[in-house]
Amino acid sequence: MTEALNSEQKLYEGKAKIIYATDDPEVLVTYFKDDATAFNAQKKGQIANKGAINCKVTTHLYGLLEKKGVSTHLIETTSDREMRVKRVDIVPIEVVVRNIAAGSLCKQTGIKLGTKLEPSLVEFYYKNDDLGDPLLTRDRIAAMALTSAQQLDRLTEKAQTVNRVLSEFFASCEITLVDFKLEFGTDKNGELLLADEISPDTCRLWDTTEPDERKRVMDKDRFRQDLGDVAEGYQAVLERILSQLS
Ligand code: TMP
Ligand code: ASP
Repeated sequence: MTEALNSEQKLYEGKAKIIYATDDPEVLVTYFKDDATAFNAQKKGQIANKGAINCKVTTHLYGLLEKKGVSTHLIETTSDREMRVKRVDIVPIEVVVRNIAAGSLCKQTGIKLGTKLEPSLVEFYYKNDDLGDPLLTRDRIAAMALTSAQQLDRLTEKAQTVNRVLSEFFASCEITLVDFKLEFGTDKNGELLLADEISPDTCRLWDTTEPDERKRVMDKDRFRQDLGDVAEGYQAVLERILSQLS
């Protein structure tokens, strides 16, 4: 960690990242940890070098998205595990996009793992650990006054754009973007920015060249499901991204 950061400036420590204040009230520093949790922190562990990998993966994917007109909170990546980001008010809604059925969708609906979803699903979850991040509906969002219908439309459109850009990019890396979670925030001008991270922690990524259901997993499901070689999966994602961008 850089010397400039000390515990007095720590604003918030989450499950995978720490947020620090800086001298500039509009700028925060995000520090990526190796800690991993799953199932609302019922399962805990560490993934070697995960923080550094996720920081790099997020940096590259944000760069790609910025080029395609999707604004993010990233200002600059300042070290292996740190990025300076714009301070935003986080919208308390996790936006999940699903191209292929997996995870909670299969559990809750019985849709078979691997079923192609056409069109892709855009879902909203309440960002609230105490409640276990429950699935929301548009009516629930309105009843809870979490955001306006107009802002929800913007979130949906942005999530669909991110999906188009990232699905195409990952396909070029021979990786299938199965699903992913996004978070958004508004800056001091009210602009909606992509925030948090996009990494193997927050996406399901399958090796397109690998038919074996267990071996193809390159993301946090390796940790969630005790598939082994967790760090190797994350590292392989980064290497494919880097070789595609070079
Ligand atoms: P799910 O199938 O468990 O609902 O997850 C959908 C996607 O969202 C998957 O790519 C993992 C990601 N995700 C997070 O990033 N954070 C979370 O807390 C959860 C539950 C899922
Ligand atoms: N990040 C969430 C948690 O800790 C859930 C998950 O990714 O599975 O608990």
